[in-house]
Amino acid sequence: MKFWLLKIFMEVLSDFFTHVYEQFGIRVNYADAGNLEQFEQAITPGTKLIWLESPTNPTLKIADIPAIAKLARQHGCLLCVDNTFASPISQKPIQLGADLVVHSGTKYLAGHSDLIAGIVVASSPELAAKIKFIQNASGAILGPLMPGCLFGGYKHCLCVYANTAKTHRFWQNGLRPMNR
Ligand SMILES: Cc1ncc(COP(=O)(O)O)c(C=O)c1O
Repeated sequence: MKFWLLKIFMEVLSDFFTHVYEQFGIRVNYADAGNLEQFEQAITPGTKLIWLESPTNPTLKIADIPAIAKLARQHGCLLCVDNTFASPISQKPIQLGADLVVHSGTKYLAGHSDLIAGIVVASSPELAAKIKFIQNASGAILGPLMPGCLFGGYKHCLCVYANTAKTHRFWQNGLRPMNR
């Protein structure tokens, strides 16, 4: 079931890239980020952007972000990391060398299945200005109530992470909850 779903996700994505992006002259190569040698071979002189998902959904594979950021710099392209499944609390790709980070705000960050949102974080004011321009020109903005809901969800998400970390430390230290 899992693999069937994964195949469907990949087919839908690659259909989108092939049938929509290729019309605009954008070509997409796919590479396994777990094999850096093969990954580097997929980079061509025309590569403008490396798009990485780490951890991956749904198989939770982890990529070596600093090593791929180094490759991106060597080949003169940008690195964008989809950080949705780590969240900004447990992984900060810009500190690891990424130029751009995206999050699905729909998932952990909002946390209540009450909105659909995406977040783009840029490593420099110049990149941020370019993205802001595209966002403004294309009208891809949230409804007026959504940012408040997202912010509330994020505060809840911070508490859940903090408590999970505390519980983890509690058990690691060999302590037991009072009621056991
Ligand atoms: C890793 C990852 N990034 C982005 C998205 C897109 O999320 P949204 O539902 O906010 O469009 C998904 C959706 O499943 C995802 O798994």
